[in-house]
Amino acid sequence: MSGGGEEKKKIVCVTGGSGFIGSWLVRVLLYRGYTVHATVQNLNDEKETKHLLALEEEQEESKPGHRLRIFEIDLLNYDSLIAAIDGSSGVFHVASPCIVDRVHDPEKQLLQPAIQGTLNVLKAAKESGVKRVVVTSSISALTPSPDWPADVVKREDCWTDVEYCKRNELWYPISKTMAEKAAWEFAKDTGLDIVVINPGTVMGPILPPSVNASMLMLIRLLEGCSEEYKDFYMGPVHVKDVALAHILLYENSSASGRHLCVEAIRHYSDFAAKVAELYPEYKVPRLPKDTQPGLLRAEDGSKKLIDLGLHFTSIEEIIKDSMESLKSRGYIS
Ligand SMILES: NC(=O)c1ccc[n+]([C@@H]2O[C@H](COP(=O)([O-])OP(=O)(O)OC[C@H]3O[C@@H](n4cnc5c(N)ncnc54)[C@H](OP(=O)(O)O)[C@@H]3O)[C@@H](O)[C@H]2O)c1
Repeated sequence: MSGGGEEKKKIVCVTGGSGFIGSWLVRVLLYRGYTVHATVQNLNDEKETKHLLALEEEQEESKPGHRLRIFEIDLLNYDSLIAAIDGSSGVFHVASPCIVDRVHDPEKQLLQPAIQGTLNVLKAAKESGVKRVVVTSSISALTPSPDWPADVVKREDCWTDVEYCKRNELWYPISKTMAEKAAWEFAKDTGLDIVVINPGTVMGPILPPSVNASMLMLIRLLEGCSEEYKDFYMGPVHVKDVALAHILLYENSSASGRHLCVEAIRHYSDFAAKVAELYPEYKVPRLPKDTQPGLLRAEDGSKKLIDLGLHFTSIEEIIKDSMESLKSRGYIS
């Protein structure tokens, strides 16, 4: 294993470093002086590496010293994970397939990389002597949960109903729920220190050259799509806050368990109405008041993270930052 002492504490690995959330996390970690092992699926694809290399350049003046290393991994290839994690004292396991539509082979497209991939990352972390792993789960591991009591705000002890998801072929929530459960089981069996973050719908400035599933939701809304995302919504959150929350959970040894990460618990209709109010020039559809039946709204839904010191960006700022990014990249006019 490379590195040692104080220096090693500042070396961390981010799986899925090329993605929407991963690249923001890499950016903030570099800014904070960490050395980052970021993973991509294809080192020869500029679409995965160029924006990451630009992040290092962006900070070269204020914090010099080549602190970004990019590794090619496949979540199902254990040796590739060992190589990426070796020398790190922390791992942020962000990588997981985010496919909601067009799932024709759930086992191969979603379940194996999410579940076996998570176990492979945790095993590699344990073998490499990593001190803490922050696992990026999702609100999709909390909801859909149709049997949750109607008068109780959904919180960290709420779990997605996998049987309901199977009946409705909701493969993404199944992948996130089973991956998170497998992670907790692994931690219990091996003593590996893990902490989990469950972000809502993540939005904000896009760093990679392509648009991810959650920002696509906003593009569709602006185009007039009236889909209500009944089983996939609990509230928005700024991508920078998600990155900061990951780091807060890593650095704060008292943090434990799951952490819902949303600006507030809201219905999709609340979000759509706010977009329509701020940007009346787009054809945002009017939706029913309650698009998420049984979901109680709550301003402090992410109380655990708020108590750890996270200040959430307002819904207005989340929308404005997202709109500016979509406009500057030509996704909307
Ligand atoms: N966006 C949201 O609203 C949201 C909300 C809650 C939780 N999350 C979770 O946050 C994480 C990142 O999501 P995102 O929105 O940033 O999505 P994204 O932009 O699609 O990023 C997904 C990342 O995972 C990597 N990946 C996927 N399959 C892989 C495999 N088999 N082997 C290695 N790497 C693989 C991707 O690599 P490539 O770039 O090479 O494809 C990419 O870096 C996921 O775990 C997701 O479930 C997202």
